[in-house]
Amino acid sequence: MSDRLIIFDTTLRDGEQAPGIALSPDDKVAIAHQLARLQVDVVEAGFAASSPGDFTAVQRIAREVRGPKIASLARTHPGDIDKAAEALKDAAERRIHVFISTSAIHMESMLRMTESEVLKAIVESVKRAKSYCDDVEFSPQDATRTNPDFVIATCQAAVKAGATTINIPDTVGYAMPADFVDLMKRVYNEVRGGNEDVVVSTHCHNDLGMAVANSLSAIHAGARQIEGAINGIGERAGNTSTEEIIMAVKTREDYFGVEIGADTTQIVETSRLVARLTGYPVQYNKAVVGRNAFAHESGIHQHGVLRDRLTYEIMDPEAVGHRSMIVLGKHSGRAAFADALYKMEITLDDEEFSRAFVRFKELADRKGEIGEEGLRAIVAAQAGIELGRFQLVGIHLSGGDHEVPTAVVSLRHGEETSQFEASGDGMVNAAFVAIQDAFGIPATLLDYRVSPLTSGADAMAEVNVIVQVGADTYSGRGVSTDVVEGSAQAIVAALNKADNSGMTAETAE
Ligand code: KIV
Ligand code: ZN
Repeated sequence: MSDRLIIFDTTLRDGEQAPGIALSPDDKVAIAHQLARLQVDVVEAGFAASSPGDFTAVQRIAREVRGPKIASLARTHPGDIDKAAEALKDAAERRIHVFISTSAIHMESMLRMTESEVLKAIVESVKRAKSYCDDVEFSPQDATRTNPDFVIATCQAAVKAGATTINIPDTVGYAMPADFVDLMKRVYNEVRGGNEDVVVSTHCHNDLGMAVANSLSAIHAGARQIEGAINGIGERAGNTSTEEIIMAVKTREDYFGVEIGADTTQIVETSRLVARLTGYPVQYNKAVVGRNAFAHESGIHQHGVLRDRLTYEIMDPEAVGHRSMIVLGKHSGRAAFADALYKMEITLDDEEFSRAFVRFKELADRKGEIGEEGLRAIVAAQAGIELGRFQLVGIHLSGGDHEVPTAVVSLRHGEETSQFEASGDGMVNAAFVAIQDAFGIPATLLDYRVSPLTSGADAMAEVNVIVQVGADTYSGRGVSTDVVEGSAQAIVAALNKADNSGMTAETAE
C-alpha cells in the first residue's frame, strides 16, 4: 500500500454549494492559485455542466492553474461528461469525477431508477469519461446509507469500466467512525484488492461533527485520498476541513504513517482568502485556523508557553502560516504600505496600488492602526474592482427613532459629482435605493453580510453584497469604519459590474 495520502480539495465545488456563497470566476481562479501554493494534489474546480459560470470557472482554472490536477464533477448523464471533458481540455493534468446516488431513498425518490439501471448508468458513464481522460473518479452518492453489498457492486462495476479512484461519500454526515471503517475496509478489500492502480477515497460531511474523524479513521482502512474543503465549508454543516486533515496527518505522522505534499505554511493565507471571498467567517476557536487556535489565555498556560512552547502547543503557529503581526498606522507612507503588501505576498499593478493606498490612508486617519486582516480587506475591496460609471464620494445620513431614514449619496461620474437622495426602512436600504436610482437599473439585494475586521467602538468592517439584476447576480465588497458607507461602496461595486455587463432598465426587467 502506498504511504502517500492524496489531498483532494473541493472548496470550489462542494464548498461553494454552501448557502449564500456565490464566487465569481475571478474569485475561483484566485482561490485555485492559492490552493496550488498550498500544494494540494487535486483541485475540484466545479461542476462544469451545472451552469455557464461553473463551466467558465473550470475552464479558466484548467487553463491558468498549474501544479494540482484539476477535476470537474459530472452526473452520469452523457452531456455532463462531455461538458466536464470540454472544460478540462487545457489542463496539464485532469480528472473527471462521476457520481450517482445509490441509496434506496435516493434511487426511489430522486432518480426513480432501479439498481440495475444505476449499474448500467455507472458503466456507460465511466467508459465515456475514460474515453476523454485516463483519470476517472467514481462516487456512489449517499454511500453510508446504501446497502453495503450494493456499494461494493457499484464500485466494482466502476473499476471494471475504468475508474481509478473510488470515493465513498458520507453525503449526509450520518456515519460513525467505527461503521465507516468497516465500510472502507470492505471497499479496500473487495473493490481495490491487489489492484495498485485503484485509490480508495473518502468524502465526509459534517452534519454530526464527524467529518474529520471519519475521514482520518479511513486511513487505517486503506484510504489514500481524502476530500475536504478549506475552513470546512460546504453543503449544510459543511465538509471535512482540508487544513485539519493536513495538520492531523503531519502532526501525528507517528500514528497515521502517511505522507502528504502540502506546504503547511500556506494554510492561514488560504483560509483567510476563502473566508474573505466567500463571506463565511471562520469561528474563533476553529482548529488550526481560528484566531484563538494559538492564543493562551490562562496565566498557567501563558507561563508554560513562555518557558517552553511545547508545554501547551502541539503545532508551531508559524508552521501553519501565522506570522508576526503587521500593523500600519496613519503616519505610514507609501513605502511602508508597499513593504506590508510585499510581506503579505500581495502584488498589485500601479493603479490598484494607488487606489488601495488612498483608501488605506482614509481609513487609517479614522482608525489609527490597521492590522493584516484590515489591510487585506482594503486591498481586496480596491484592487481588481471593475471601475465603472460611478464612484462613491461620500454619504450623508439622517434618521432616528421618529424620522424616516434618508441617505444622500454623492457619486462621481467622470468629472462630475451628483447627489442622489432616497428614503428606506433603514439606512442601508435608503443608500441602496439611492444608488439604484442613480444607475437606473432595478436590482434586488440578495445577500448582505457584514464581517468585523477589528474589535472596539471604532471597529472596521467588511461588507459583502450580492445583488440580482434580471436573471444575473453580481457581487460587491466594501471596507469601512462606517457600516453604511461600507455597504454603499459594496453596492456601487456590484452595480458597476452589472452596468459594465450591459444591463439596462429594459434588459433587467
Ligand atoms: O456529498 C456527496 O455525496 C458529494 C458527491 C457528489 C461526491 O458531494
Ligand atoms: Zn459532498
